Amino acid sequence: MTSVARKKITQHEAEKRFSLITGSVSYDDLHDVDIVVEAVFEDMNIKKKIFAKLDEVCKQGAILASNTSRLSIDEIGSVTKRPEDVIGCHFFSPANVMRLLENVRGEKTSPRTMRAAMDFGKKLKKITILVGNCDGFVANRIMAFYTQEAIAMALEGASIEFVDKCAVKFGFAMGPFSMSDLVGIDLGGRQRETNGTADPSKNIGDLLYKENRYGQKNGKGFYDYILPEGAPKGARPRPAPSEFVSKSIQVIAANLGIKNRGKEITEQEVYDRLILPVANEGMRVVEEGITEKWSDVDMSVIFGYAFPKTRGGPLFYARQMGFEKVVERLQYFQQHSSTGQREYWKPSTLIVECVKQGEQDPDRAKKNMVKAKM
Ligand SMILES: NC(=O)c1ccc[n+]([C@@H]2O[C@H](COP(=O)([O-])OP(=O)(O)OC[C@H]3O[C@@H](n4cnc5c(N)ncnc54)[C@H](O)[C@@H]3O)[C@@H](O)[C@H]2O)c1
Repeated sequence: MTSVARKKITQHEAEKRFSLITGSVSYDDLHDVDIVVEAVFEDMNIKKKIFAKLDEVCKQGAILASNTSRLSIDEIGSVTKRPEDVIGCHFFSPANVMRLLENVRGEKTSPRTMRAAMDFGKKLKKITILVGNCDGFVANRIMAFYTQEAIAMALEGASIEFVDKCAVKFGFAMGPFSMSDLVGIDLGGRQRETNGTADPSKNIGDLLYKENRYGQKNGKGFYDYILPEGAPKGARPRPAPSEFVSKSIQVIAANLGIKNRGKEITEQEVYDRLILPVANEGMRVVEEGITEKWSDVDMSVIFGYAFPKTRGGPLFYARQMGFEKVVERLQYFQQHSSTGQREYWKPSTLIVECVKQGEQDPDRAKKNMVKAKM
């Protein structure tokens, strides 16, 4: 449904906005622009070719931005003669709804470029945060564990509908599997296929990609999207459980030697496993100085992933739960989940420091930690 149909803006306003947009398929038309936001396939080679070309055609001082979700801004900027003008401007999907803009500073990005990108975000009425260059930046980096644990629970026998329902009960507008279908399974699938890490016998995302199940965009992903019979014109297809997906999950679980314990997985376990690894990684982000302050981590997922505002963000949630209890739960799942051996269950240095110091504020705990080392 369009914004006009939803009565968010008038027809006149929509026409006015469209009239401000012009299309072109020629690089020559970019010679005088102030900012370029590249948004082509998530493929480093293609991005490098494009940035080399942008470097040739754009005027001096133009901001060369990439909407990449996880590729290195330093590597993209390295093909230009002006890495100081290169920055990440990472929008979140769907970009007209999600208010977050992560501006990713590379090692050589100049303060002028950072300031311009922050002003650009403000002009677009985005919640704009400045973040460091690391794999996945902030929101995608920490929320990766939310998705990984959702898949792990499915492999352990929880149905994808149950996990999604729990996430909604926690306060998310949609569960992790519905979200993957919305964002598009092909994004990660294509990237893993390109870099040779895809394994459809062990990874459900890779299998769905191989089977052309890209999500809502082509009517099948973790769910089948079916238009009910007799549905009115313009009605949206509705998600329905897919037998193919549940069978594939069982096959992959067997390939990985994961035992079925679906009946034991409670609502509380789903909450803990979806949220606590995210909070733990959020602490690592703060520890590494990827964000200026811990509240930026919470802002990034509230406005980039619609993390329930009422929960205050993963770090606020962990703080409310009590860092000591969080460490205890992380250690419990380190021993009891099929993903327990993974690094993300290991309590981060900063959360352990918060417990040791009896400190509620991770920024202060970090400062104390640095002081103590001096
Ligand atoms: N889809 C998302 O949810 C999302 C969210 C945030 C960031 N991003 C990032 O945005 C970028 C694009 O993702 P997407 O999902 O929109 O992909 P997409 O596949 O929907 O669109 C990519 C577009 O790039 C075009 N393209 C490919 N090679 C090109 C070239 N050499 N020159 C010009 N155009 C070229 C394709 O024709 C296509 O229209 C990626 O870097 C992705 O990480 C995507």
